Amino acid sequence: SRRTLLKGSAAAAASFAVGGGLAARRGAAAPVPLLLKAQFTEASLAASGITPKVMTYGTGEAAATGMPPVLRMKKGEPFAARLVNALDEPTTVHWHGLRIVNAMDGVPEMTQPYVYPGDGFDYAFTPPDAGTFWYHPHCNTLTQMGHGLTGVIVVENPDDPVYDSEIVLNLRDWRLGADGAFIAPFKPRDAARGGTYGTVRTTNWQQAPAYDAPAGGLVRIRLAATDVTRIYTLGADGAAAVVIALDGNPVEAPFPLDLLDFGPGQRVELIMRMPDDEGAVVKLGNFRGSSPFTIATLRATGTSLKRDIRDVKPLPANPIAEADLSSAVRIPLDFTATAEHAPVPSICGTLGYTFWAINKVPWQGDTPDPGAPVSELKLGKSYVLQVRNRTPHAHPIHLHGLSFRILSSNKRTILPPPTDTILLLPDEQAELGLVADNPGDWLLHCHIIEHQKTGMSAYFRVV
Ligand code: C2O
Ligand code: CU
Repeated sequence: SRRTLLKGSAAAAASFAVGGGLAARRGAAAPVPLLLKAQFTEASLAASGITPKVMTYGTGEAAATGMPPVLRMKKGEPFAARLVNALDEPTTVHWHGLRIVNAMDGVPEMTQPYVYPGDGFDYAFTPPDAGTFWYHPHCNTLTQMGHGLTGVIVVENPDDPVYDSEIVLNLRDWRLGADGAFIAPFKPRDAARGGTYGTVRTTNWQQAPAYDAPAGGLVRIRLAATDVTRIYTLGADGAAAVVIALDGNPVEAPFPLDLLDFGPGQRVELIMRMPDDEGAVVKLGNFRGSSPFTIATLRATGTSLKRDIRDVKPLPANPIAEADLSSAVRIPLDFTATAEHAPVPSICGTLGYTFWAINKVPWQGDTPDPGAPVSELKLGKSYVLQVRNRTPHAHPIHLHGLSFRILSSNKRTILPPPTDTILLLPDEQAELGLVADNPGDWLLHCHIIEHQKTGMSAYFRVV
């Protein structure tokens, strides 16, 4: 049973203290685990002059900025990290978008035991895909992510073209009062709608930071929306840019950036052609909505090979299986609001409300027994998820452990490459094709965390 299994992995996890653990048992090829210490620190969220007590995965760099480090991995090469919990509540790490083994997925009660304060857990896996991904806890997430535990992962591919420089931008908001202290993480009224927005917007834990980039050069910009609520509309002013990857997967034909919506959990990769003039400034911004704002500025400086944006070629594709539509089984999935009823208490953080449901079933909390899977999938078989958003709000729906392709939609003409997160638009109906090629229990949930935590969550079992 699941409980016996979890006890077994708890014993395995405990063994790291005496030098065992998964990484060590894998033998000579295992890399030295990176230390990821979840801890409190003070962050200076730059221009605001306020220094709230945030949570971070500390390293030398993080100690200065408060931002969790950008983790660099290599496609097809083993990676290992040791989570040490120096917080005052249980936590775990989920590797968002990485198609890795289920036991490393970081969902407490489902794939691993809680990591209590003072304890640790060894993660070891091999990322199969190159691209931009991210990592965050899967426990008390509105608080833990809201307080800063959201970091970017870059999985490098030695076959990628070389650009003149690379910039990683981690976008998120903070719910802070005027004194710099955290305020209530959400308002129930907003949780039942589009979600509660932060009060301070940051890029890499700073407000509208400025970076230098080679004049006339091609810059690879990786953006990750790690906020718990905000949907961004990305645009650029002052230079041409093309979109080369979405949610970790290369687009088949890079296309010019005009305005691009991406929601919590999603990533965008751009190649920007910097102006030739020394000192010219390019602006990346959130260009729609009631309060447009600058995400970052890039200043052209120094020299480059003066390349042409038309030279940008598609990146090599990731090895994601295409669903066999002739044999695929169809699974309807309805995303709806639901009549409020009391949620089951959970040590992993219940918000005390239920507003949402998947196929009429609101998630019963992160409990030892989360109930039945929304569907059981046969290992290796193809499926088409018929998703329907029956609400007037957008929902970034994320699937763990498996990537899917949007096959059709009543709301879009351009279909993105395979993804782990679809920003399901109001009243959108879409068909998502996937191959159930990764065994285990895989969560499916809205990445507006208030929605996730008030019912919009379920899981698939692949056996
Ligand atoms: Cu970004 Cu369930 O995760
Ligand atoms: Cu949602």
